[in-house]
Amino acid sequence: MLHNPYRPRASADPLIGRQAQLALAQQFISQTLATRHAAPGAVVFYGVRGIGKTSLLRAVRRRAISEDGFVSPWLSVPKGGDFFAALAATVRRTLVDADVIAENHWSLERFGVEVGAGPVKVTASVKAADAAPAGTWHVGNVENFLRTTARACSDQGGGRGTGMLLCIDEMHAMKSADLAVLLNALQNIADDTEGSPPLVVAAAGLPRVRSGATAAATFGERTAYEEVKALPEPDTRRALVETAAEAGVTMTPDAMDLLTQRSGGYPFFVQLLGWHAWQVADPAQAGDAITEEHARQAIEAAGPNIADLFEARFGAASPVESDFIVALARLAGDGTASRSDVAEAMGRTSRELSMVRRELLDKAVVADAGRGRLRFTLPGFAQFVLNETEG
Ligand SMILES: Nc1ncnc2c1ncn2[C@@H]1O[C@H](COP(=O)(O)OP(=O)(O)OP(=O)(O)O)[C@@H](O)[C@H]1O
Ligand SMILES: [Mg+2]
Repeated sequence: MLHNPYRPRASADPLIGRQAQLALAQQFISQTLATRHAAPGAVVFYGVRGIGKTSLLRAVRRRAISEDGFVSPWLSVPKGGDFFAALAATVRRTLVDADVIAENHWSLERFGVEVGAGPVKVTASVKAADAAPAGTWHVGNVENFLRTTARACSDQGGGRGTGMLLCIDEMHAMKSADLAVLLNALQNIADDTEGSPPLVVAAAGLPRVRSGATAAATFGERTAYEEVKALPEPDTRRALVETAAEAGVTMTPDAMDLLTQRSGGYPFFVQLLGWHAWQVADPAQAGDAITEEHARQAIEAAGPNIADLFEARFGAASPVESDFIVALARLAGDGTASRSDVAEAMGRTSRELSMVRRELLDKAVVADAGRGRLRFTLPGFAQFVLNETEG
């Protein structure tokens, strides 16, 4: 039996599609490579759960490390934890692993920074500033910390290093006070056009990550917020076929059509359906094929997983949210409907429903489709809702 190459629970690697998003991140990276200074803003990928944000951020990071020589700490924002302590720990581990800073050159006394003698000797110390009450962080400390560590990355090996790419996943989970400190520190660094270090920040989070932009006006304005959406059909097909092809297994066009259509281009479903199709087909050797019949059985087998996901979303809705969801399901199906039509169907005004809409947008159950229209974020969700409520 061959190993199942589909990854419903892990990042996509290699990443199919997403060329425009990768190119956008590359602009910031190239600018820093050319100027040797900090990028003027961050690049932030946002989108609903399971749409491929982490996979994309990981792909940006892989490329920056392998092709551009960046050192790249990765932080997934801890829920309820101390953001800056986690940041300090991951930067430390990454720089030590990359031989940028020797283990014994870190001291844990202050979240200040001391630069030692010699090209590769940097002593960065990590903890709350003496003067700061426990648990609070100063913009100046964070700024210093990032400056010194980014500079150390480029000084690496007698100046052969290029810079630091800081990746922050689940950025929406940052407390607003922490976000304000981080963005202000980054803004101070970016505004120092002569003396700023080669630092690029790339982040990912749920759609509400955008509301943090106001915390630091200029840096926020210069930050590129890029939505990650469902995969276009050709990329969905490629993701399905090329993943199997890696293991020498083919997929018939009929099988590909069925799975593509059922996934709606939602990356989690692409991997989940692909995984089930592989399990059903159970290819023994290169040259075996996934057929239409396998695809049919896979859709059946994936049903309970998909239903669980839908159930969790629908079950978490308040009564008025449920009504809203049902009204939207009737009007939009897998397409879109206008806010005012949904309100009218509920016998309310659009204005009265603004809180409900905000909640559902925040929970990423629905998404803004532009021009006053809304849609569900998960393909097949409308049908599920109608089956549940109308039998
Ligand atoms: N471009 C792609 N092509 C095919 N599959 C993909 C692609 N991007 C992501 N996936 C798959 O989709 C699933 C979700 O991806 P990922 O974890 O990156 O999403 P996410 O947006 O970070 O989700 P969450 O919000 O839950 O953290 C994974 O199984 C991943 O392998
Ligand atoms: Mg993720």
